Amino acid sequence: MEAVEETVVPAMPATNAKPSVHDRYARCIEVSKRIRWEIETDVIRGRQFDFSMKFLPDGLSKVSDLKFATPAERVFLSQIQGRTYANMFGLVERFIGAKILEVSRDHWLGDQVALEALVRMTDEELKHQELFRRLDRMAAAGMPAGYTFLPQPNDVANVVLGKSTWAVLGLTLDIELFTQAHYRSSIEPDAQLSPLWKDVFLFHWKEESQHAILDELEWKRENERLSAAERDAAVDELIELVAAVDGILQVQAKADADYFVQQVKRTFSMEEQQAIHATVLGAYRWQYIFSGVQDPRFLAVLGSMITPAQGQRINAALGSIGSA
Ligand SMILES: [Fe+2]
Ligand SMILES: [Fe+2]
Repeated sequence: MEAVEETVVPAMPATNAKPSVHDRYARCIEVSKRIRWEIETDVIRGRQFDFSMKFLPDGLSKVSDLKFATPAERVFLSQIQGRTYANMFGLVERFIGAKILEVSRDHWLGDQVALEALVRMTDEELKHQELFRRLDRMAAAGMPAGYTFLPQPNDVANVVLGKSTWAVLGLTLDIELFTQAHYRSSIEPDAQLSPLWKDVFLFHWKEESQHAILDELEWKRENERLSAAERDAAVDELIELVAAVDGILQVQAKADADYFVQQVKRTFSMEEQQAIHATVLGAYRWQYIFSGVQDPRFLAVLGSMITPAQGQRINAALGSIGSA
Protein backbone atom coordinates (compact mmCIF):
# COMPACT_ATOMS: atom_id res chain seq x y z
CA MET A 1 0.00 0.00 0.00
CA GLU A 2 1.67 3.20 -1.11
CA ALA A 3 0.14 5.21 1.71
CA VAL A 4 1.92 3.03 4.26
CA GLU A 5 5.25 3.43 2.56
CA GLU A 6 4.75 7.17 2.43
CA THR A 7 3.88 7.26 6.12
CA VAL A 8 7.13 5.65 7.14
CA VAL A 9 9.59 6.70 4.48
CA PRO A 10 10.45 10.42 4.45
CA ALA A 11 9.23 12.47 1.52
CA MET A 12 11.55 12.74 -1.44
CA PRO A 13 12.91 16.13 -2.47
CA ALA A 14 10.54 18.15 -4.66
CA THR A 15 11.59 16.83 -8.02
CA ASN A 16 9.99 14.73 -10.68
CA ALA A 17 13.02 12.45 -10.82
CA LYS A 18 12.30 8.95 -9.55
CA PRO A 19 14.62 7.80 -6.78
CA SER A 20 17.39 5.59 -8.06
CA VAL A 21 17.64 1.99 -6.90
CA HIS A 22 20.65 3.01 -4.78
CA ASP A 23 18.59 5.80 -3.17
CA ARG A 24 15.79 3.36 -2.34
CA TYR A 25 18.20 1.10 -0.48
CA ALA A 26 19.59 4.17 1.30
CA ARG A 27 16.14 5.31 2.38
CA CYS A 28 15.39 1.85 3.80
CA ILE A 29 18.52 2.10 5.96
CA GLU A 30 17.60 5.60 7.09
CA VAL A 31 14.09 4.56 8.15
CA SER A 32 15.29 1.28 9.65
CA LYS A 33 17.64 3.21 11.93
CA ARG A 34 14.99 5.77 12.86
CA ILE A 35 12.23 3.32 13.81
CA ARG A 36 14.44 0.57 15.29
CA TRP A 37 12.75 -1.07 18.31
CA GLU A 38 13.67 -3.56 20.98
CA ILE A 39 11.54 -6.49 22.07
CA GLU A 40 11.39 -5.79 25.78
CA THR A 41 11.73 -2.03 26.10
CA ASP A 42 9.46 -1.05 23.21
CA VAL A 43 7.03 -3.90 22.52
CA ILE A 44 6.49 -5.97 25.66
CA ARG A 45 7.36 -3.33 28.29
CA GLY A 46 6.95 -5.74 31.21
CA ARG A 47 3.40 -6.64 30.26
CA GLN A 48 1.73 -10.04 30.34
CA PHE A 49 -1.18 -11.11 28.17
CA ASP A 50 -4.64 -10.35 29.54
CA PHE A 51 -6.48 -13.57 28.74
CA SER A 52 -9.87 -11.85 28.87
CA MET A 53 -8.94 -10.07 25.62
CA LYS A 54 -8.65 -11.08 21.96
CA PHE A 55 -5.21 -11.51 20.42
CA LEU A 56 -6.27 -11.07 16.80
CA PRO A 57 -8.86 -8.60 15.51
CA ASP A 58 -12.06 -10.10 14.07
CA GLY A 59 -11.04 -8.92 10.60
CA LEU A 60 -8.22 -11.47 10.71
CA SER A 61 -9.61 -14.23 12.96
CA LYS A 62 -13.11 -14.25 11.38
CA VAL A 63 -14.45 -15.51 14.75
CA SER A 64 -17.48 -13.24 14.43
CA ASP A 65 -18.64 -15.56 11.61
CA LEU A 66 -19.37 -18.22 14.26
CA LYS A 67 -22.77 -16.95 15.32
CA PHE A 68 -23.31 -19.84 17.75
CA ALA A 69 -20.10 -19.14 19.68
CA THR A 70 -20.29 -17.15 22.92
CA PRO A 71 -18.20 -13.97 23.33
CA ALA A 72 -15.81 -15.85 25.65
CA GLU A 73 -15.43 -18.65 23.08
CA ARG A 74 -14.64 -16.12 20.37
CA VAL A 75 -11.99 -14.55 22.58
CA PHE A 76 -10.42 -17.98 23.20
CA LEU A 77 -10.44 -18.87 19.50
CA SER A 78 -8.74 -15.56 18.67
CA GLN A 79 -6.07 -16.37 21.27
CA ILE A 80 -5.41 -19.78 19.70
CA GLN A 81 -5.08 -18.05 16.33
CA GLY A 82 -2.79 -15.43 17.87
CA ARG A 83 -0.49 -18.12 19.18
CA THR A 84 -0.43 -19.73 15.75
CA TYR A 85 0.22 -16.28 14.24
CA ALA A 86 3.34 -15.98 16.39
CA ASN A 87 4.47 -19.44 15.35
CA MET A 88 3.71 -18.91 11.65
CA PHE A 89 5.83 -15.76 11.56
CA GLY A 90 8.62 -17.51 13.43
CA LEU A 91 8.39 -20.13 10.69
CA VAL A 92 8.38 -17.92 7.58
CA GLU A 93 11.03 -15.59 8.96
CA ARG A 94 13.41 -18.55 9.14
CA PHE A 95 13.51 -18.95 5.36
CA ILE A 96 13.14 -15.22 4.65
CA GLY A 97 16.26 -14.39 6.68
CA ALA A 98 18.24 -17.18 5.00
CA LYS A 99 17.16 -16.13 1.49
CA ILE A 100 17.98 -12.47 2.10
CA LEU A 101 21.42 -13.40 3.40
CA GLU A 102 21.88 -15.49 0.26
CA VAL A 103 20.88 -12.74 -2.19
CA SER A 104 23.04 -10.24 -0.28
CA ARG A 105 26.03 -12.14 -1.73
CA ASP A 106 25.44 -10.32 -5.03
CA HIS A 107 26.21 -7.04 -3.23
CA TRP A 108 29.20 -8.21 -1.16
CA LEU A 109 31.71 -6.56 -3.46
CA GLY A 110 29.21 -4.17 -5.05
CA ASP A 111 26.85 -1.52 -3.66
CA GLN A 112 27.69 -1.43 0.04
CA VAL A 113 24.50 0.52 0.79
CA ALA A 114 22.39 -2.29 -0.70
CA LEU A 115 24.40 -4.77 1.36
CA GLU A 116 23.82 -2.81 4.56
CA ALA A 117 20.07 -2.62 3.89
CA LEU A 118 19.85 -6.40 3.45
CA VAL A 119 22.03 -7.09 6.51
CA ARG A 120 19.74 -4.87 8.59
CA MET A 121 16.70 -6.69 7.21
CA THR A 122 18.21 -10.07 8.16
CA ASP A 123 19.03 -8.78 11.64
CA GLU A 124 15.45 -7.55 12.03
CA GLU A 125 14.02 -10.92 10.96
CA LEU A 126 16.19 -12.66 13.57
CA LYS A 127 14.80 -10.24 16.17
CA HIS A 128 11.24 -10.87 14.97
CA GLN A 129 11.73 -14.63 15.36
CA GLU A 130 12.85 -14.02 18.96
CA LEU A 131 9.81 -11.78 19.55
CA PHE A 132 7.42 -14.41 18.22
CA ARG A 133 9.06 -17.22 20.23
CA ARG A 134 8.62 -15.02 23.30
CA LEU A 135 4.94 -14.41 22.48
CA ASP A 136 4.36 -18.16 22.09
CA ARG A 137 5.80 -18.75 25.57
CA MET A 138 3.67 -15.93 27.02
CA ALA A 139 0.56 -17.36 25.35
CA ALA A 140 1.39 -20.86 26.66
CA ALA A 141 1.50 -19.53 30.21
CA GLY A 142 -2.20 -18.68 30.16
CA MET A 143 -3.64 -21.38 27.90
CA PRO A 144 -4.59 -24.97 28.73
CA ALA A 145 -2.15 -27.72 27.73
CA GLY A 146 -2.71 -29.45 24.42
CA TYR A 147 -1.92 -26.71 21.88
CA THR A 148 0.51 -27.89 19.20
CA PHE A 149 2.17 -26.08 16.33
CA LEU A 150 2.92 -28.82 13.86
CA PRO A 151 5.08 -27.43 10.99
CA GLN A 152 8.81 -27.29 11.71
CA PRO A 153 10.57 -24.06 10.58
CA ASN A 154 13.72 -25.76 9.35
CA ASP A 155 11.82 -28.48 7.45
CA VAL A 156 9.69 -25.84 5.74
CA ALA A 157 12.73 -23.66 5.04
CA ASN A 158 14.55 -26.57 3.40
CA VAL A 159 11.62 -27.13 1.02
CA VAL A 160 11.15 -23.41 0.27
CA LEU A 161 14.84 -22.71 -0.26
CA GLY A 162 14.97 -25.59 -2.74
CA LYS A 163 12.88 -23.48 -5.13
CA SER A 164 14.22 -20.76 -7.41
CA THR A 165 15.11 -17.38 -5.91
CA TRP A 166 12.48 -15.70 -8.12
CA ALA A 167 9.74 -17.87 -6.60
CA VAL A 168 10.97 -17.43 -3.01
CA LEU A 169 11.23 -13.64 -3.36
CA GLY A 170 7.71 -13.54 -4.80
CA LEU A 171 6.35 -15.44 -1.82
CA THR A 172 8.40 -13.22 0.50
CA LEU A 173 6.99 -10.00 -0.94
CA ASP A 174 3.49 -11.44 -0.52
CA ILE A 175 4.23 -12.18 3.15
CA GLU A 176 5.86 -8.85 3.93
CA LEU A 177 2.96 -6.99 2.35
CA PHE A 178 0.34 -8.88 4.31
CA THR A 179 1.90 -7.81 7.61
CA GLN A 180 0.87 -4.33 6.53
CA ALA A 181 -2.71 -5.47 5.85
CA HIS A 182 -2.70 -7.07 9.31
CA TYR A 183 -1.57 -3.83 10.93
CA ARG A 184 -4.42 -2.00 9.20
CA SER A 185 -6.90 -4.59 10.56
CA SER A 186 -5.64 -4.03 14.07
CA ILE A 187 -6.09 -0.26 13.94
CA GLU A 188 -9.86 -0.63 13.86
CA PRO A 189 -11.25 0.28 17.27
CA ASP A 190 -11.94 -2.94 19.14
CA ALA A 191 -12.17 -2.57 22.92
CA GLN A 192 -11.62 -6.30 23.31
CA LEU A 193 -8.31 -6.42 21.45
CA SER A 194 -5.20 -6.96 23.58
CA PRO A 195 -3.11 -3.72 23.67
CA LEU A 196 0.05 -5.86 23.60
CA TRP A 197 -1.08 -7.54 20.39
CA LYS A 198 -1.92 -4.15 18.87
CA ASP A 199 1.66 -3.15 19.57
CA VAL A 200 2.96 -6.35 17.98
CA PHE A 201 1.13 -5.47 14.77
CA LEU A 202 2.36 -1.86 14.96
CA PHE A 203 6.02 -2.57 15.61
CA HIS A 204 6.23 -5.48 13.20
CA TRP A 205 4.67 -3.35 10.45
CA LYS A 206 7.17 -0.53 11.04
CA GLU A 207 10.09 -2.76 10.07
CA GLU A 208 8.25 -4.87 7.51
CA SER A 209 7.49 -1.72 5.48
CA GLN A 210 11.18 -1.49 4.57
CA HIS A 211 11.40 -5.24 4.01
CA ALA A 212 8.68 -5.09 1.36
CA ILE A 213 10.60 -2.37 -0.49
CA LEU A 214 13.78 -4.47 -0.37
CA ASP A 215 11.93 -7.61 -1.51
CA GLU A 216 10.63 -5.70 -4.49
CA LEU A 217 14.10 -4.39 -5.41
CA GLU A 218 15.68 -7.83 -5.09
CA TRP A 219 12.83 -9.60 -6.89
CA LYS A 220 13.08 -7.18 -9.84
CA ARG A 221 16.85 -7.58 -9.92
CA GLU A 222 16.48 -11.37 -9.99
CA ASN A 223 13.74 -11.13 -12.60
CA GLU A 224 16.04 -9.29 -15.01
CA ARG A 225 18.56 -12.11 -14.85
CA LEU A 226 16.08 -14.81 -15.92
CA SER A 227 15.35 -16.01 -19.42
CA ALA A 228 11.71 -16.36 -20.46
CA ALA A 229 11.91 -20.13 -19.97
CA GLU A 230 13.47 -19.80 -16.50
CA ARG A 231 10.77 -17.33 -15.49
CA ASP A 232 8.06 -19.63 -16.76
CA ALA A 233 9.42 -22.45 -14.61
CA ALA A 234 9.71 -20.07 -11.65
CA VAL A 235 6.02 -19.15 -11.99
CA ASP A 236 5.19 -22.83 -11.50
CA GLU A 237 7.45 -22.91 -8.45
CA LEU A 238 5.71 -19.87 -6.97
CA ILE A 239 2.41 -21.71 -7.44
CA GLU A 240 3.93 -24.77 -5.73
CA LEU A 241 5.07 -22.61 -2.81
CA VAL A 242 1.62 -21.10 -2.32
CA ALA A 243 0.15 -24.62 -2.44
CA ALA A 244 2.71 -25.69 0.19
CA VAL A 245 1.68 -22.78 2.40
CA ASP A 246 -1.93 -23.90 2.01
CA GLY A 247 -0.94 -27.45 3.00
CA ILE A 248 0.56 -26.07 6.22
CA LEU A 249 -2.57 -24.00 6.87
CA GLN A 250 -4.83 -27.04 6.42
CA VAL A 251 -2.83 -29.06 8.95
CA GLN A 252 -2.62 -26.26 11.52
CA ALA A 253 -6.26 -25.17 11.09
CA LYS A 254 -7.35 -28.71 11.95
CA ALA A 255 -5.02 -28.83 14.98
CA ASP A 256 -6.27 -25.46 16.24
CA ALA A 257 -9.96 -26.21 15.64
CA ASP A 258 -9.61 -29.58 17.42
CA TYR A 259 -7.82 -27.93 20.37
CA PHE A 260 -10.59 -25.33 20.63
CA VAL A 261 -13.35 -27.96 20.58
CA GLN A 262 -11.54 -30.09 23.17
CA GLN A 263 -10.93 -27.19 25.57
CA VAL A 264 -14.35 -25.53 25.48
CA LYS A 265 -16.55 -26.87 28.26
CA ARG A 266 -19.53 -27.80 26.15
CA THR A 267 -20.32 -30.14 23.30
CA PHE A 268 -20.58 -28.84 19.75
CA SER A 269 -22.70 -30.60 17.14
CA MET A 270 -20.95 -32.09 14.11
CA GLU A 271 -22.23 -29.18 12.02
CA GLU A 272 -20.84 -26.68 14.49
CA GLN A 273 -17.49 -28.46 14.57
CA GLN A 274 -17.33 -28.35 10.79
CA ALA A 275 -18.15 -24.64 10.86
CA ILE A 276 -15.37 -24.01 13.41
CA HIS A 277 -12.87 -25.87 11.26
CA ALA A 278 -13.97 -24.08 8.07
CA THR A 279 -13.83 -20.68 9.78
CA VAL A 280 -10.31 -21.24 11.13
CA LEU A 281 -9.06 -22.51 7.76
CA GLY A 282 -10.73 -19.60 5.96
CA ALA A 283 -9.17 -17.17 8.45
CA TYR A 284 -5.72 -18.67 7.94
CA ARG A 285 -6.05 -18.55 4.17
CA TRP A 286 -7.03 -14.91 4.47
CA GLN A 287 -4.20 -14.12 6.89
CA TYR A 288 -1.38 -15.98 5.12
CA ILE A 289 -2.32 -16.03 1.43
CA PHE A 290 -5.09 -13.76 0.22
CA SER A 291 -4.43 -10.61 2.28
CA GLY A 292 -1.07 -10.46 0.47
CA VAL A 293 -1.82 -11.57 -3.06
CA GLN A 294 -4.74 -9.16 -3.34
CA ASP A 295 -2.49 -6.25 -2.40
CA PRO A 296 -2.35 -3.78 -5.32
CA ARG A 297 1.38 -3.39 -4.90
CA PHE A 298 1.97 -7.14 -5.13
CA LEU A 299 -0.25 -7.34 -8.19
CA ALA A 300 1.57 -4.43 -9.85
CA VAL A 301 5.04 -5.91 -9.34
CA LEU A 302 4.03 -9.43 -10.32
CA GLY A 303 2.03 -8.14 -13.30
CA SER A 304 5.06 -6.24 -14.60
CA MET A 305 7.06 -9.49 -14.75
CA ILE A 306 4.75 -12.14 -16.14
CA THR A 307 2.74 -12.85 -19.28
CA PRO A 308 -1.08 -12.91 -19.31
CA ALA A 309 -0.97 -16.72 -19.65
CA GLN A 310 1.26 -17.00 -16.57
CA GLY A 311 -1.11 -14.68 -14.70
CA GLN A 312 -4.00 -16.97 -15.60
CA ARG A 313 -2.09 -19.98 -14.24
CA ILE A 314 -1.54 -18.17 -10.94
CA ASN A 315 -5.17 -17.04 -10.75
CA ALA A 316 -6.41 -20.56 -11.44
CA ALA A 317 -4.17 -21.94 -8.67
CA LEU A 318 -5.40 -19.31 -6.21
CA GLY A 319 -8.99 -19.98 -7.24
CA SER A 320 -8.58 -23.66 -6.49
CA ILE A 321 -7.32 -22.80 -2.98
CA GLY A 322 -10.24 -20.47 -2.36
CA SER A 323 -12.76 -23.12 -3.29
CA ALA A 324 -10.97 -26.14 -1.78
FE1 LIG B 1 9.29 -9.97 10.33
FE1 LIG C 1 10.23 -9.05 7.08
